[in-house]
Amino acid sequence: MAKLLIEGGHPLKGTIRIGGAKNSVLKLMAAAILGHGSFHISDVPAIDDVRTMVGVLRSLGVGAVLQGNELSIFVNGVQGRPPERLVQSMRASIQVMGPLLARLGRAEIALPGGCAIGSRPLDIHLDSLSKLGAHIEERDGRIIATADGLHGADITLRYPSVGATENTMMAAVRAKGTTIIRNAAREPEIVDIQEFLNKMGADVSGAGTPVITVKGVPDLGSTNYRVIPDRIAAGTYAIAAAATGGEVQLLNVIPHHVEPLLRILTAMGVPIEVDERIVRVYPADRLHPIQVQTAPYPGFATDLQPQLTVLALKAQGTSIIREAIYDNRFGYTYELAKLGASISLEGNRAVVNGGRPLWGASMNAGDLRGGAALIIAGLMAEGHSEVVGLHHVDRGYEDICGQLQALGARVIRV
Ligand code: EPU
Repeated sequence: MAKLLIEGGHPLKGTIRIGGAKNSVLKLMAAAILGHGSFHISDVPAIDDVRTMVGVLRSLGVGAVLQGNELSIFVNGVQGRPPERLVQSMRASIQVMGPLLARLGRAEIALPGGCAIGSRPLDIHLDSLSKLGAHIEERDGRIIATADGLHGADITLRYPSVGATENTMMAAVRAKGTTIIRNAAREPEIVDIQEFLNKMGADVSGAGTPVITVKGVPDLGSTNYRVIPDRIAAGTYAIAAAATGGEVQLLNVIPHHVEPLLRILTAMGVPIEVDERIVRVYPADRLHPIQVQTAPYPGFATDLQPQLTVLALKAQGTSIIREAIYDNRFGYTYELAKLGASISLEGNRAVVNGGRPLWGASMNAGDLRGGAALIIAGLMAEGHSEVVGLHHVDRGYEDICGQLQALGARVIRV
């Protein structure tokens, strides 16, 4: 089993480049199913979730090859259904449902099952697809969606779900007529999918605002595309820099995508400088405690909540972090207790008593972002730590060990 060995207590220093966004590219890959021909996507992170999505595409008869950070996709015919094993290992596989339904009039997919960060129902996806004319059935742990031609509809999401917004957009691009999606998610990844679909020949507007309009077109082609930088990876390294009192320059960051985090870091006393596509983090004299809660974009991202909670351990005083998106995203705090962290959970809030010394310990990552948070904690703590369960971290961070080593961290993977 792979482990990360960390000698903590050393500030990070140097420059790294942030790669493409996991939560965008996975959906661009699903969107390709709607088109015909060859796609070339660059700046694709070489992470396990992308490899899983390559497997999903291949199971549908679509050619997909990842070489370095370049992904080639060849769409001729599309057929079949993704194997249960892949869908259960990565929830984002359900993003092929909208495209399959639009293209084939039928999508059959296993229910993604439980998740370490909380229950994650699909009701908003299914409700929207049925408003577009799909008939949905749940049988033997699978969802079967069928449609005899999708039609445009005026849809209001009960909650701005990222995945449901994307599935609805992708199903609607080839529907007859116009679809309006209200209370849509506004994440930068939604804007990226709009751009990608439009380059394929779709007519989508409004992404990034709560109202998205999709005018159906009969056919979509192919395109070449560069995926946006990963704002969560950027945020993770910015927090790691602040947590170690380091001085780090992050290249290939779109500053307004990480602004909700930068505002919090600034309020905590971390000096930050922003340039065009560059973020610089400088050492703080002293960190102030914070009170924050996660929210859909442009609020503070839940995918940075565990990492920020770790940073709050360094602030002098009591911080309160409220998780408002997931019902079980504090599991990693039990591992932090092994370092001497004082965090108490009160429902969906973590009360963090910062400013106490942390010492190295052996920790077990239980999910992707929680795992990244444990690594940051290991970098902060005095002495030696180890983190196991790295397969969770490998789902979403390309070579996190190498990136940290490039910043001078004393980490090795064994
Ligand atoms: N929800 C429902 N019903 C639905 C859909 C969602 O109740 O039909 C609930 C979920 O249970 C959850 C909340 O709405 O409590 C947010 O879910 P959303 O659909 O917005 O999230 P997602 O599309 O499943 C994406 C990212 C997550 C990220 C969330 C929120 C991808 C592949 N995943 O998930 O990323 O946390 O948006 O920003 O894009 C990660 O990268 O570590 C990760 C978990």
